[in-house]
Amino acid sequence: MGKKRQKLKRAFNANLIILNFKRMWPFIKPFWVRALIGVLLTIPVGGLDAVVAMFLKPFMDQVMVDKQQAFSAMIPYLIVGFTLVQGVLLYASDYLNTWVAQKITIGLKRKLYEKLLSMDTAYFDSHNSGEILFRYSTDAETASTGLINSIKQFLSRTFSSIALVFVLIYNSWQMAAIAVAVLGLFIYPMYIVRKKMKAILAKTVVNLSSIMTAYNETFAGNRTIRSFTLEEEFKRRFYKITDVTFALAMKMVKSTNWLSPLMHIIMSIGVAFVIGFGSYLIVTGRITSGNFVAFTAALIMLYKPLKSVGNYYISIQNSFIAIDRIFEILDLQPQLKDRENPATLTEIRKGITFDNVCFAYVPGREVLHNITLEIPRGTTLALVGNSGGGKTTISTLIPRLYDITGGEIKIDGVNVKDISQDSLRKQIAMVFQDNFLFTGTIRENVLLGNPNVTDAEIWAALENACLADFVKGLELGLDTEIGERGTLLSGGQKQRLAIARAFVKNAPIVILDEATSALDTKSERVVQEALDNLMKNRTVIVIAHRLSTVQNADNIIVVNDGQIVESGNHETLLAQDGAYAALYKMQFKK
Ligand SMILES: Nc1ncnc2c1ncn2[C@@H]1O[C@H](COP(=O)(O)OP(=O)(O)O)[C@@H](O)[C@H]1O
Ligand SMILES: [Mg+2]
Repeated sequence: MGKKRQKLKRAFNANLIILNFKRMWPFIKPFWVRALIGVLLTIPVGGLDAVVAMFLKPFMDQVMVDKQQAFSAMIPYLIVGFTLVQGVLLYASDYLNTWVAQKITIGLKRKLYEKLLSMDTAYFDSHNSGEILFRYSTDAETASTGLINSIKQFLSRTFSSIALVFVLIYNSWQMAAIAVAVLGLFIYPMYIVRKKMKAILAKTVVNLSSIMTAYNETFAGNRTIRSFTLEEEFKRRFYKITDVTFALAMKMVKSTNWLSPLMHIIMSIGVAFVIGFGSYLIVTGRITSGNFVAFTAALIMLYKPLKSVGNYYISIQNSFIAIDRIFEILDLQPQLKDRENPATLTEIRKGITFDNVCFAYVPGREVLHNITLEIPRGTTLALVGNSGGGKTTISTLIPRLYDITGGEIKIDGVNVKDISQDSLRKQIAMVFQDNFLFTGTIRENVLLGNPNVTDAEIWAALENACLADFVKGLELGLDTEIGERGTLLSGGQKQRLAIARAFVKNAPIVILDEATSALDTKSERVVQEALDNLMKNRTVIVIAHRLSTVQNADNIIVVNDGQIVESGNHETLLAQDGAYAALYKMQFKK
């Protein structure tokens, strides 16, 4: 018995409905009055069906059988009045429910987006863009629109069903008993469908994410695709993904859509029995023909929505499963968090130290081994060495984009883990080899470095970044749109814009990661001049593979395979005739 009840509960998702509702409540709460009115409006809308059925008995018995004049004269007014009331209620309930559904969707999307912004770098390393789009945006819509619709449908159906069942019982309790028993037969198939759906939907999410990633990569990588003539290859990949989409869609239909026809068949059997039994009751004079007509109408009204309940059920499940996925995301916690009451970094007095720092992106695969180094305030540290040796990794650890697995990184003697991430990163300006510029104007992109600077300061930064002449030559000047990711600028211009962005940030620590390596010698000289300006009087970490750019550094460290193999300034390292000298000679020869 207990097991049976469990099944019954699961089929109707009683627990799930309550759980989902509890979790959704914070998103519904601000609008609960409207939501409640919207929901309450569905009661009369649902109940009105029963009124029609109920009305059929007096109509049958008094007009058709007894031929009463007064009653028949009222009928047109009743119909019109009734329709008006129903129409107004329907409109009001649709309006309110859409309003509430939209508010909830937007609330969910905002919360999800905040969550996305709070996730750490490692999270983005291990997820693709399609998955992000799907799980942070599409799911929100599926969840809330689906939920509101399902609540609306569910409640209006429930109220209408309850009212109709009363009509049934009023007209003939014996027939009502048969009809309700038939309804009970639906429970098991509903339970099966839910189980099957969940498995297929999990695969569908992965598939739809791949499709979104494909679009993203086609957009972002279009030049590579074109120049390597990868059209056929990408077409083939896309066909393969969409073949899976098709297979999954068909599998879904195959394993769920038998529900509606099955319900239809079960209901037909129910109707057949009830009508047979009802005819017997009329013939034997136990009910009036009015009873019979009203009963049959109520029964058909009750079964008609139930016939489509199979499909509703599927879409309701869909939104419930989307809600599950959303809360999976909202429950995520970034691995990297501020500790309680973190210190605030407002200036650099002594400098940065690495003490036996070990680091692995993937547990067990260490990429930095016992790195110890010191960067006194106002000095420049250069990192050189083989590609893949760990230079970029070292530089990302200073703004704490990742947490180290061993040792300590300190600024002015305070562990970076004890400093609030916000205040730490405000003290650091980074320029990368591949800088990300955002859709918008030149001014907007510079302002991202610091929103509080004046136009005069922006021009000064552009001047320092050796980009002012170029911007002055543009018709729209600072208001020139640079395209998504800055595609309308050249590589050197993009880099100099990123340098200007770093300038206005005016941070005491500057990190330059191969900021000039993508440039030809002539533009490199211009950008180098900009960088020299940026480095003045600051604590700098510079990574460069052209040694000419690091010769003046106060300290040079050679990093190979995650280890420091040499350190010193240019002269001492050359005199040592080790790794640095070898690198230098190799480049010098060229
Ligand atoms: N996000 C990442 N996830 C996992 N491994 C990474 C990641 N970034 C870099 N690595 C690995 O870490 C090592 C050091 O890389 P990196 O610091 O970029 O070297 P460098 O800047 O000296 O060329 C390489 O073996 C690289 O494959
Ligand atoms: Mg690198």
